[in-house]
Amino acid sequence: MLHPDVHKVSENRPTEIEHFPAGMRGKSAFPSVHPIVRTDDVASIATAQSAFVYSSPWPLQGNAINGANMGILEGRVAIVTGGAAGIGRGITEAYARAGASVLMADIDVAAGDEVIDYLAAELQGRVSFMQVDVTDKAQVHAMVAQAVSQFGRLDILVNNAWRGSGFARLEEQTDENMRGAFDMALMAAFWAMQASLPEFRRLGAGRVINLCSLNGVNAHMYSADYNAGKEALRTLTRTAAREWAEYQVCCNVICPGAASDAYQRFARSNPENAAAMANANPMGRIGDPLTDIAPVALFLASDDSRYLTGNTLFVDGGAHINGVHWAPKLP
Ligand SMILES: NC(=O)c1ccc[n+]([C@@H]2O[C@H](COP(=O)([O-])OP(=O)(O)OC[C@H]3O[C@@H](n4cnc5c(N)ncnc54)[C@H](O)[C@@H]3O)[C@@H](O)[C@H]2O)c1
Repeated sequence: MLHPDVHKVSENRPTEIEHFPAGMRGKSAFPSVHPIVRTDDVASIATAQSAFVYSSPWPLQGNAINGANMGILEGRVAIVTGGAAGIGRGITEAYARAGASVLMADIDVAAGDEVIDYLAAELQGRVSFMQVDVTDKAQVHAMVAQAVSQFGRLDILVNNAWRGSGFARLEEQTDENMRGAFDMALMAAFWAMQASLPEFRRLGAGRVINLCSLNGVNAHMYSADYNAGKEALRTLTRTAAREWAEYQVCCNVICPGAASDAYQRFARSNPENAAAMANANPMGRIGDPLTDIAPVALFLASDDSRYLTGNTLFVDGGAHINGVHWAPKLP
């Protein structure tokens, strides 16, 4: 069933719509930020949970959620880790709409079930859910094996899962936190990439899309674990791009800026920082997982990007150009 706040592509859309997070209907979650999110044609489920949404006079025509991309991934099979929420959820939906079969791997069973229910009416059978903890090597190997046995092949691997971690000054970061971040950001992707390569080689091509972060690129304060883990993943991706180019496997990074579930948690606990980020964004808004980030992940998964490898794409409305305001409050 479609989320009640989601407008289907074919419907006439209001010129002005507003949505509020669950439990916050009728009052502003981010009073000092207006608007924080804009969608042009469709309020995705993630956007519908965001603070403010308004429509643009420029309708999206070639966006991944529209018919123009139907068939771009027809016959292809993808794994999206952390696919049950936020950006991963947007990518899962965009890939399925473009014709792919998607194994959505996530640790959160309830969120996975919800996505399956949500997509059932339109995309039944295209998306399946598997509970996976990507910090467990055996489970990551089982995930890759499952995609191949269930769908007969594996073309695209999206390493997106992230558990979120609190902020801490560098001198207070624990070994456990640092190691945990490396397991989550680096080792999980490393295991999945190694396990996927034989299938990519069998098919004569493959795509790896790893989600990294401007936090690491710009060395944002109080997230040394995250920054270091994600930057390690970025150089792993570039190394894989170089070594696996001969197999026609393209490996790229997306550094996104999107109003995902994680972003909304951050915005709730750091409203001033979130407001400053949104206001300073060159495009004046934080992106939408489905309509802003997923189309780029779709391009990177498609045949059109077959000569593009080893790159980092900042999909953030230009936020990386001058940097973002980053001063979260420590407890
Ligand atoms: N949202 C942003 O603006 C932003 C900015 C920079 C980077 N990123 C990156 O984009 C990716 C997605 O971020 P998001 O904001 O959508 O996050 P999110 O928290 O909204 O979603 C993350 C998903 O990963 C899942 N997950 C957590 N631990 C897991 C585990 N051990 N095994 C499997 N799944 C697990 C969660 O259940 C959730 O569904 C992350 O890699 C993040 O670092 C996001």
